[in-house]
Amino acid sequence: MSKPRILIARAMFPETIEKLSEYFEVESNQEDIAWSQDEFARHLQDKQGVFTTGSDRIDADLLAKCPQLKICANMAVGYNNFDLAAMTAAGVLGTNAPGVLNETTADFGFALLMAAARRVSESEHWLRAGQWDRWRYDLFAGTDVHGSTLGIIGMGRIGQGIARRGAHGFGMQVIYHNRSRLDAATEAECKARYVSKEELLRTADHVVLVVPFTPESRHTIGASELAMMKPTATLVNVARGGIVDDVALAAALKDKRIAAAGLDVFEGEPKVHPDLLTVPNIVLTPHIASASMATRLAMADLAADNLIGFLIHGKPLTPLNQE
Ligand code: DGY
Repeated sequence: MSKPRILIARAMFPETIEKLSEYFEVESNQEDIAWSQDEFARHLQDKQGVFTTGSDRIDADLLAKCPQLKICANMAVGYNNFDLAAMTAAGVLGTNAPGVLNETTADFGFALLMAAARRVSESEHWLRAGQWDRWRYDLFAGTDVHGSTLGIIGMGRIGQGIARRGAHGFGMQVIYHNRSRLDAATEAECKARYVSKEELLRTADHVVLVVPFTPESRHTIGASELAMMKPTATLVNVARGGIVDDVALAAALKDKRIAAAGLDVFEGEPKVHPDLLTVPNIVLTPHIASASMATRLAMADLAADNLIGFLIHGKPLTPLNQE
């Protein structure tokens, strides 16, 4: 019997390709060519499954051109690249990769928070530019992290990991806002107190965003929210681009209405709004919060296991819209 055909939409770990090749006839975009949606559809039209990353868009137009497609396995916990309603209507299963990246992403959220609050990138650029000629009492003086108030918007597993780091490692007072309140045991474990979004923005020294992207969460932080924050505050986004209004943030940083920011995600990435590139008090990284080798391998493995689970054994591990 012939093997099912799958497409790996982007360059991928050789061991993942090898594992999938045991079960499937695999076509892979190992040269990492940036396909247009039409080219993507051309490669996908005769496939039953596709291994996607968060940059590969699955929408109604694409699905109409790929009648054999049964499953899209995303190597990401976020799945705003999927039009899930269109997939359900077309009878196509979507899966994501939750769980395996929580601690690595929480580490990185904290790294961005530390780097922004203590002005690590800004001072390094200045030093590399040869501007350091003497010690000065206020040279790159930033805001303390230990003992401060940490506000987390979005208290899923990654948010909880950031809360635990802050409360247990840095003696921070943790406040959070979420669609629903956590149970008492989880709040106690994270030493976190539930507050309104407005109270969080007004009282936190550092605000970290970990909410999924939906049409409702777009621009969760815009000009009016930035205006509520302390002038000494730090803002960190390790969730999705578009949760922050990048233009409003650049203006707030430029006018010193907040002190610093750390962004790993951008609206329209990999393009970064030019206003963000010209402000010094911001740390910018290219969507790498989950990028430790071990975690990226675990994410790839879970996406591969979803393809194998569904197309070979009839049971996906982490389905989004069926089962
Ligand atoms: C995720 O898993 O959603 C990450 O953003 C991908 O790197």
